[in-house]
Amino acid sequence: MGINSLIVYVHILIYGDSILKEWYDKINDALSVETLEEIRICVFGKKGILAAEFAKMKDLSGQEKGKLAKELNTHKAALMNEFTAKKITLQTEALMVAMKAEAIDVSMFSTSSQAGALHPVMETMDRIVEYFSSMNFAVKTGQIVEDDFNNFEALNLPKYHPARDMQDTFYFKDEMMLRTHTSPVQIRTMMASKPPIRMIAPGAVFRRDYDLTHTPMFHQVEGLLVDKEGTVSFANLKFILEDFLKYMFGEVEVRFRPSFFPFTEPSAEVDISCVFCKGEGCRVCSHTGWLEVLGCGIVDPNVFEAVNYKDVSGYAFGLGVERFAMLIHQIGDLRSLFEGDIKLLEQFQ
Ligand code: DAH
Repeated sequence: MGINSLIVYVHILIYGDSILKEWYDKINDALSVETLEEIRICVFGKKGILAAEFAKMKDLSGQEKGKLAKELNTHKAALMNEFTAKKITLQTEALMVAMKAEAIDVSMFSTSSQAGALHPVMETMDRIVEYFSSMNFAVKTGQIVEDDFNNFEALNLPKYHPARDMQDTFYFKDEMMLRTHTSPVQIRTMMASKPPIRMIAPGAVFRRDYDLTHTPMFHQVEGLLVDKEGTVSFANLKFILEDFLKYMFGEVEVRFRPSFFPFTEPSAEVDISCVFCKGEGCRVCSHTGWLEVLGCGIVDPNVFEAVNYKDVSGYAFGLGVERFAMLIHQIGDLRSLFEGDIKLLEQFQ
């Protein structure tokens, strides 16, 4: 209770004014902002207690009228002071209670948080890189916009080769293009350093293709190992690829099939026993029991000649990362990997 109100209150106690005294008590005893508001209407409202008291003036004579008016105005001001002070107290209390109830412990452990996840293609790429890094292969990146020499010529893909077809390659002017494979990173690495070389090149590649198993952009990992002449054999290549494929797919059978690539001689394509039917034969493996997963071979002498390497031997291999991801995660349509569909991606958390 403020000092002014206290004086008025004492005045009331002494001279008696029971009606108003009761309202001082009510204001002071109010327990909530809502009750206080009800009291305010009762006291200060149009039909309130003060209005009724003021109304009594009309029956009084001039002098008495003035006296009552003065008295009532003093009460009115004192009650208002009382009311305002009480309102602030109650509002502060209510705020404290609300703050306590709504307090958030930001350090508390939550189980419902949504963790992000790596895209299945990137996760597969990481696993491939992890394997070859553990075998001491350096990771090279090269560049996405390539020239004719690195993408084709130095890889023993001469001018008439069908792989250069406008149907397959995104060309810019001046014989520049989006690289169609990661093999040019072999060339760039050999041009920039002396043998021995042990490298992989993971990265995006581009071809004019779009269907169930092809997208205009996809990812490859290229591998190259070069050392002194007579030290790198097909047996070395076979050993590391078998080991790698078992690391990626678990207990699968691996077979090497003679094939052709311009940059390797001899060349092979590598199959694993079908991960879906375990080699029994199904739709995915076209009832052969085998799935083709990479290309490889012994580096063609023409490639070494193009980069001015002498008295060396080496092996190379290349694979498509999306194909690996599709086989590991049993995804049917390659295009779905690039649609950013949350429903699909959520499954790889
Ligand atoms: N560059 C080939 C492609 O894009 C993949 C490849 C096959 C790379 C055999 C190699 C290799 O290094 O030896 O299809």
